[in-house]
Amino acid sequence: MNEISIPRPNNLDAYWMPFSNNRAFKQNPMMLARAKGMFYYTPEGREVIDGTAGLWCCNAGHGRTEITEAIQKQAAVMDYAPTFNMGHPIAFEAAARVAEMTPDGMDRVFFTNSGSESDDTALKIALAYQKAKGQSSRVRLIGRERGYHGVGFGGMSVGGIGGNRRQFGGQLPYVDHLPHTHGLKENFFAKGMPEHGAFLADKLEDLVALHGADTIAAVMVEPVSGSTGVLVPPVGYLKRLREICTKHGILLIFDEVITGFSRIGAPFGCERLEVIPDMITMAKGLTNAAVPMGAVAVMNEVYDTVVNNSPAGIELFHGYTYSGHPLAAAAAIASVDIHQKEDLAGRVRDIEPYWEQAAHSLKDAPNVVDIRNFGLIAGIELSSRPGAPGARAMDILRSCFDDGLLVRVTGDIIALSPPLIIEKPHVDRIFNTLGDALRKAA
Ligand SMILES: Cc1ncc(COP(=O)(O)O)c(C=O)c1O
Repeated sequence: MNEISIPRPNNLDAYWMPFSNNRAFKQNPMMLARAKGMFYYTPEGREVIDGTAGLWCCNAGHGRTEITEAIQKQAAVMDYAPTFNMGHPIAFEAAARVAEMTPDGMDRVFFTNSGSESDDTALKIALAYQKAKGQSSRVRLIGRERGYHGVGFGGMSVGGIGGNRRQFGGQLPYVDHLPHTHGLKENFFAKGMPEHGAFLADKLEDLVALHGADTIAAVMVEPVSGSTGVLVPPVGYLKRLREICTKHGILLIFDEVITGFSRIGAPFGCERLEVIPDMITMAKGLTNAAVPMGAVAVMNEVYDTVVNNSPAGIELFHGYTYSGHPLAAAAAIASVDIHQKEDLAGRVRDIEPYWEQAAHSLKDAPNVVDIRNFGLIAGIELSSRPGAPGARAMDILRSCFDDGLLVRVTGDIIALSPPLIIEKPHVDRIFNTLGDALRKAA
């Protein structure tokens, strides 16, 4: 049921698709042409329920007229204006509205265009902050195995995914990693935060002992890792990281590109997890993905330190042509409005028990080795086919798509993160379709 006519591409050659198996796709494409609410529609008009909010980003559901109209209106008023030593009102308004959602005392917002840019920006702010404090020796950045912080050289280096680095040779120097928190047998099939593993945060003390606290600028982690297969932090883990960072004067950066914007039942994940970092990076839900935009929110003290300790003139030699782009700013304000008016975080908390129970109902499906959930996120981990890691999950993704469900896979883990407007019948449909696909791929 296509209400508008959508041109069908008849030549797939020109577009080099990101993070894709271009050869396989071009043999057997999966196309999405229209979206509304909880659903995508293929060019033929077939309905596909969105189990992933696009790429964890259309949190308020697709095609929100409030956001579309805000973008249209702004495009007609002013398409673009620079923000280097120059301003336009809507960028300031957007920053103030984002600051309404961030924790108390974290009211300064730097705009970027993506999660990757937000992560690299936060790392640079951390280095600039330590330098401004007279601690120029603090140049080391600590990430975590299996962390995903986008694809810039900073985020790639601090991130912990071998496959994302292998093609690109040298990484940033002065980077080290904490161990990941995945795979403790006691945590299998945990509902919500797993009980075991807080001790893994103590590895930060080992890195401090190894390198010296006076060489470490910041630690960056995702509160809940999404891209590497839904890794929920063990109870007490993040609190311990916070304590160690504070003790040693190390900044703690939460990459909330996925967990921000109500995904785990609070405006930002840190509030639900009761651990407040020094900086938060965000993107995706910020504009409901209607226009690209990212941001870094920093504690006022971080901003004050960098800005007030700089010589007269530019205080941070960093920024993008499109930082605070008017169309993105308009979309961000409309998105914040929706999160606040519709209390999307509250909706997540209301439906979370139903979501959790539905996810864990797949426990006995073929090849399932673990299920994890938190907020409106679920990860279903499968055993791999011998000699063909990832193949089973890819088959399941295809089968789900053909049966009208969009899922995301990473290796042999299926990740689900639907729009936050989801209702119980949608939850049933997602897990019934996925259950059928798991049985077919047995
Ligand atoms: C936690 C996290 N950080 C950073 C990014 C990178 O965001 P982008 O693709 O907008 O650069 C992502 C993308 O999925 C992410 O999940």
